[in-house]
Amino acid sequence: SNRMMLGPLVGSIDQGTSSTRFLVFNAKTSELLSHHQVEIVQKFPKEGWVEQDPKEILNSVHECVEKTCEKLQQLNIDITNIKAIGVSNQRETTVVWDKTTGEPLYNAIVWLDLRTQATVDRLLKKIPGKNKSFFKFRTGLPLSTYFSAVKLRWLLDNVEEIKQAVGDGRAMFGTIDSWLIWSLTGGKNGGVHCTDVTNASRTMLFNIHSLEWDPELCQFFDIPMEILPKVRSSSEIYGLMKSGALTGVPISGCLGDQSAALVGQMCFQDGQAKNTYGTGCFLLCNTGQKSVFSEHGLLTTIAYKLGRDKPVCYALEGSVAIAGAVVRWLRDNLGILKTSQEVEKLAAEVGTSYGCYFVPAFSGLYAPYWEPSARGIICGLTQFTNKNHIAFAALEAVCFQTRELLDAINKDCGVPLNQLQVDGGMTNNKVLMQLQSDILCIPVVKPSMPETTALGAAMAAGAAEGVGIWSLNPGDLTAVTCERFEPQINPEESEFRFARWKKAVMKSMDWVT
Ligand code: G3P
Repeated sequence: SNRMMLGPLVGSIDQGTSSTRFLVFNAKTSELLSHHQVEIVQKFPKEGWVEQDPKEILNSVHECVEKTCEKLQQLNIDITNIKAIGVSNQRETTVVWDKTTGEPLYNAIVWLDLRTQATVDRLLKKIPGKNKSFFKFRTGLPLSTYFSAVKLRWLLDNVEEIKQAVGDGRAMFGTIDSWLIWSLTGGKNGGVHCTDVTNASRTMLFNIHSLEWDPELCQFFDIPMEILPKVRSSSEIYGLMKSGALTGVPISGCLGDQSAALVGQMCFQDGQAKNTYGTGCFLLCNTGQKSVFSEHGLLTTIAYKLGRDKPVCYALEGSVAIAGAVVRWLRDNLGILKTSQEVEKLAAEVGTSYGCYFVPAFSGLYAPYWEPSARGIICGLTQFTNKNHIAFAALEAVCFQTRELLDAINKDCGVPLNQLQVDGGMTNNKVLMQLQSDILCIPVVKPSMPETTALGAAMAAGAAEGVGIWSLNPGDLTAVTCERFEPQINPEESEFRFARWKKAVMKSMDWVT
């Protein structure tokens, strides 16, 4: 045949909050050959609740794999060259399913969901001094609605089918990576129930030093340990695909999406950092083999462990709940945009918010405040304010929130970052990127191939023992070509706006008392 000779390829599943993607990369050149994307339905059954259908998520993965394989065949690329598959996923989102039927027992509770506020308050009462940082040194995390343990507690307390399934030994718990890997490797017919250290580190049941589920934490949250997946490294063969066009291909990489982006941005050195603009916004700074604990509202999380015998690396993380989601809100709830892309044009037309500040605290505030009772506010309005100014203020909010993360990282690390590496869907917005550089007063650097999350999971899969088609030696890694944005306003102007933003944040936290 006249099929193109390309050498080994690696597929990558990127299951994010807003959409699912499957992408195929050339293992030798890191070149992206083809991909397919499907949007995921978000359900808001009650105020503050956010759910997704685990079956829809699984089907979207199958659809993306099949469509991408069709596209490759149209390009005359032989899909038998795909030698490994990596998984990266939205983290913390919690699924419980029945291992005998393969069916989910409830919708997935999405990381953004706030229903567990009362659960958190109740658990806080059991902690000396109601200190939400009580488990910080063991887990890296404060007690919050964000992490899986409280979501799982809620499911065990409130869903009769789940209580019964646990009693009968039929229940399995997992974050999205576990649900997908179990289902793709055979599901009820022998699927592999596992997760990786990065995803496990977001549950609040995992000891980030011993790298094991922590019996005391499981006792505190009253979680039966037999429903938890086995914890593996981020790069090893977990199992083989059991259906579809890629049947028989090993799944050999798994990372939470923010860790995957860190790998895809090649941030392997202590002190290297990246900020990803997705539904939320997450700044991770690699701290190497030592876990650093924040004094400024950041999380300590596992960056990666790229092989069973490889060392574990840690990161400091600044987490913002609402970034891309504020644009989706302008589109779906206010109707001032037809498409999310339109926000750039609207903001560019005015180039200023005219003193309007928008704090999108829809899910409370995450880093550095960790205030679940905060609510969104738009302030500084006059008769002059129009939708353009509000669109601009929404973009500026993403930049101010990132500035808060950067300030915290700089304080915790001592050495300030002199530029920011960025990626994710929103980085296609040039107005946003320029504004980000203006607000941070440092250059913002964006790779020309923005799919770094998928790339990171592909790298982990390709480098796994028994696959060995992707080299992670620094010398073999292809340098990424980048676009740069330099600060264009003076620092005084930037400080003035940031001070106003902080004032608005204080008002958003006053709101519910
Ligand atoms: O912690 C949640 C995070 O993993 C979600 O990422 O890109 O879907 O906003 P994203």
